[in-house]
Amino acid sequence: MAAAKRRDRRALPDSSAGGRPGNPARTHRTRPMTSSIYRSPFVFFFPFALVFVPLALYFILRNPRSVSPILSVYERGLVKPNVAFHEILAEHSRVSENRTRKHFENPVLAYVTPWNSRGYEMAKLFSSKLTHVSPVWYELKSKGKDFVLEGRHNADAGWISDLQKNGHSLVLPRVVLEAFPAEFITKKKQWRKAIDIIVKECEEMGYDGIVLESWSRWAAYGVLQDPDMRLMALKFIKHLGEALHSVTSTTNSSHHLELIYVIPAPRSQNLGEYDFGPQDIQELKNAVDGFSIMTYDFSSPQNPGPNAPLKWIQSSLQLLLNDAKDGHMIFLGINFYGNDYILSGGSGGGAITGRDYIFLLEKHKPSIKWEEKSEEHYFIYTSNNQKHAVFYPSLMSISTRLNEAKKWGAALSIWEIGQGLDYFFDLL
Ligand SMILES: *[C@@H]1O[C@H](CO)[C@@H](O)[C@H](O)[C@H]1NC(C)=O
Ligand SMILES: *[C@@H]1O[C@H](CO)[C@@H](O)[C@H](O)[C@H]1NC(C)=O
Repeated sequence: MAAAKRRDRRALPDSSAGGRPGNPARTHRTRPMTSSIYRSPFVFFFPFALVFVPLALYFILRNPRSVSPILSVYERGLVKPNVAFHEILAEHSRVSENRTRKHFENPVLAYVTPWNSRGYEMAKLFSSKLTHVSPVWYELKSKGKDFVLEGRHNADAGWISDLQKNGHSLVLPRVVLEAFPAEFITKKKQWRKAIDIIVKECEEMGYDGIVLESWSRWAAYGVLQDPDMRLMALKFIKHLGEALHSVTSTTNSSHHLELIYVIPAPRSQNLGEYDFGPQDIQELKNAVDGFSIMTYDFSSPQNPGPNAPLKWIQSSLQLLLNDAKDGHMIFLGINFYGNDYILSGGSGGGAITGRDYIFLLEKHKPSIKWEEKSEEHYFIYTSNNQKHAVFYPSLMSISTRLNEAKKWGAALSIWEIGQGLDYFFDLL
């Protein structure tokens, strides 16, 4: 991609020689050809450009030293607390030329969603840095006494095989278990049906397993406070994991299908009865391949602030990992999105993507501050008499969280790569 970018930039003087930087193809088609040629200075430029442009390109391409390769964000000195908006604007789309060089050695799981389709492209570009890619595609729903797995229409076979072959990323779509919890958990016959459907989908589509999300929903429906129900719930996850492990991957006969289980991050200093805890990890750790912990969304429009304060991440890990040896089971959640909160003159606001963030930087040219307490960057701006606070991840904030993951021997899970800035991938 970096190479393509450079080509774009070099092509710019060429197209603006005609006095028209925009979209030359469209301008040509909408204008009557003959009259425009006679009136335009283009007629004088054309023979000149014909000779000059190829000549210039020849010299630029022949001498590789005239274009220095783009280094990583570390080598460019961009990972630091003091950053200016114009530096972010100038650098965010410049990615290290070497996209296979890893800075984070533990596994990296990247979520991809159909509503931020840029993630599909990024997953392919950086597949050598992503050990697991999880497209957010499926829901398992009750239908009478049966189940339906909805979402296959999202699947793109070409994209899946590109990922599996080029960068050796495993593809594990996310499945949300939407079946009515109280009924589902108590009926083992239903488990078998659900497990069969999931395993069959993996085999037919050539997936390497799934990422399962059910805990938050079970907690919301109040099924986890009963110890027997909780035990049954864990048993179902165990059975699913064992079933997937018993199947050989279609893409690599020395692999079995994997199960990664999504868990919420504890909200308070002590574990609540709904929280997934260290005993649950012990119960499941032989049947699953990891736990994707949602260490983000600490703040909300009602309670604006940083998205994932480092201290909260640390205390979540401490609560979850009685046994530090289990650190490798954790896929520590990292947000690639941010929030734009309204502080005064109203309330509300919500999630923003990298593109929104860049737009805000261009428009408001804000002074960006590093908040020591949460170890996140933020800025304040005013629009329509409303004061806003924007918390969006930065190279520095992500890098500190990557270091925390390394300390625990943990992997990463990124929500989600279609929302980030390109140069974040240099950190991985
Ligand atoms: C990219 O980085 C890897 C790992 O550090 C290295 O082995 C490889 O030679 C690099 N490739 C280029 C083109 O610099
Ligand atoms: C299959 O998996 C093994 C073990 O992880 C690995 O060494 C091998 O390169 C893989 N083969 C292919 C074709 O990806």
